[in-house]
Amino acid sequence: MNNLLQGKRGIIFGALDEHSIAWKVALKAHGQGAKFVLTNAPVALRMGEINKLAAQCQTIVIPADATLVDDLDKLVTQATAHLGGKLDFVLHSIGMSPNVRKGKTYTDINYEWFQKTLDISALSLHKLLQTCMKQDAISEWGSVIALTYIAGQRAFPGYSDMADAKATLESIVRSFGLYYGQQKKVRVNSISQSPTVTTAGSGVKGFDSFLGFADKMSPLGNAPAESCADYCITMFSDLTRYVTMQNLYHDGGFSSMGVSEGIMNLFESTKDK
Ligand SMILES: NC(=O)c1ccc[n+]([C@@H]2O[C@H](COP(=O)([O-])OP(=O)(O)OC[C@H]3O[C@@H](n4cnc5c(N)ncnc54)[C@H](O)[C@@H]3O)[C@@H](O)[C@H]2O)c1
Repeated sequence: MNNLLQGKRGIIFGALDEHSIAWKVALKAHGQGAKFVLTNAPVALRMGEINKLAAQCQTIVIPADATLVDDLDKLVTQATAHLGGKLDFVLHSIGMSPNVRKGKTYTDINYEWFQKTLDISALSLHKLLQTCMKQDAISEWGSVIALTYIAGQRAFPGYSDMADAKATLESIVRSFGLYYGQQKKVRVNSISQSPTVTTAGSGVKGFDSFLGFADKMSPLGNAPAESCADYCITMFSDLTRYVTMQNLYHDGGFSSMGVSEGIMNLFESTKDK
């Protein structure tokens, strides 16, 4: 399908490098005719990679730390001015846990870092939505997507405080979705993606095992980042107008599985063979 996002304006958070899910969303949104600005934390922009993406998508990069309301306020003002109107879509593709990054286990957690995890990975969505609402920056039927992981709902070793952040993020999707839907007909959803090889993903201890296990459990196999980007585009389009306040699994079926034959085979005793 072509031009699904023709005439639409947006902001895309979280493209760090070419592996980032947000990077792939940006390329696809550009291909589908959208106009958008890219943003990331000032520290992430120092890598300079994002400028290549901006050139490919014929757009600009506006720095913003998503934990700072002032930064978000300026970003939204500048983005709508640059794009020449209200936003139709926003991608929140942000996650970071200092505890995970520095190898602190869940039962020996650093609480200052825990607060940072929650602020960066969950509260930033509330701050973003509240800023957009106050500025009335999103058009009716606009669509906001936040990326999440099933560890927000089930226990996974090693995901540590990111699990709590994802549970909070998914709750903000529902709670803010209620008010934004009612007041402005703006929809808010999260997409719960399979484990994916990116900077954020690979930070989790035992990530390769997560990836392999999920792949063997999922009837369709792990969903690639490219397909996640396709799903985001669908959710930004007018084809999904009445979907809001949902946590949408994009995981090859993983979330509905109990056990797969692939996993059972790993435990088959020799007498069964
Ligand atoms: N990779 C996976 O396995 C996986 C699976 C499910 C969900 N997700 C989620 O997808 C999203 C994108 O992650 P990714 O896998 O593409 O990794 P990534 O590391 O490429 O993206 C994470 C982004 O968050 C940004 N960020 C961190 N702190 C910020 C701040 N204060 N302000 C603004 N931006 C900030 C980083 O600069 C980076 O661009 C995250 O929410 C992640 O939890 C990832």
